[in-house]
Amino acid sequence: MSDETRAIRRRFVPGTTADDLKAYMAPFVATLGYKFNTEQDFVDEVLASELEILEATGDVYCPCRVRTGDPKEDFKIICPCIPFHNEQFAAMRKCWCGLFILEDVEDGAELLGVIDEPEPGAAVDVPVCRIDDLPRGQVRHVKVGKSDIALARVGDEFFALSNVCLHAFGPLSEGVLEGYEVMCPWHGWRYDVRTGGTDHPNADVKTYPVVVRDGLVFVSVTVR
Ligand code: SF4
Ligand code: FES
Repeated sequence: MSDETRAIRRRFVPGTTADDLKAYMAPFVATLGYKFNTEQDFVDEVLASELEILEATGDVYCPCRVRTGDPKEDFKIICPCIPFHNEQFAAMRKCWCGLFILEDVEDGAELLGVIDEPEPGAAVDVPVCRIDDLPRGQVRHVKVGKSDIALARVGDEFFALSNVCLHAFGPLSEGVLEGYEVMCPWHGWRYDVRTGGTDHPNADVKTYPVVVRDGLVFVSVTVR
């Protein structure tokens, strides 16, 4: 099928407006610790461009991202692309073009313009969810850069450890949390969420520092 005859697969109906996009995007980015830039004119400009691209492609792409034409690859740059670039954005305190800024940035204008991508090796606190998104006694999967992480909440304490059980690579985020121990859902290996330690030899998993501030949970990682 040629490009001209291929039907546009639409994630958004024709006639979608900037307000529709705002209503769709705002709660989604809020769960990741972001908000729209405080510079309203800039936000309106970017969204107007995204609407033009939406008409042409059926999907919402930001004008600053280069599409490849491969739907799987391009999915990573559908706006908001924050989940795919969270590590870099947390270091820059905004997404590439600045449509979204971290919640604690008061003046978004100071982040407009080009800001260098963070150097590999830089430490950065990446927001992964709001405190209330994770009930006490539960564990969930979060993705930070390329790392799959199990985020656990014990009372009001949060812990982050590798999501990959070292027995047969089961997903710890789908396990049961009992006190400070998470039990792998596949064959029951238990890991201490504070240390990543398990009773099995040479099978401890990596842990990550967690910081809680301003209602958000941050996992500390090193930019790769
Ligand atoms: S860089 Fe910002 S505006 Fe562009 S796609 Fe990503 S989240 Fe959207
Ligand atoms: S994969 Fe986790 S216990 Fe087997």
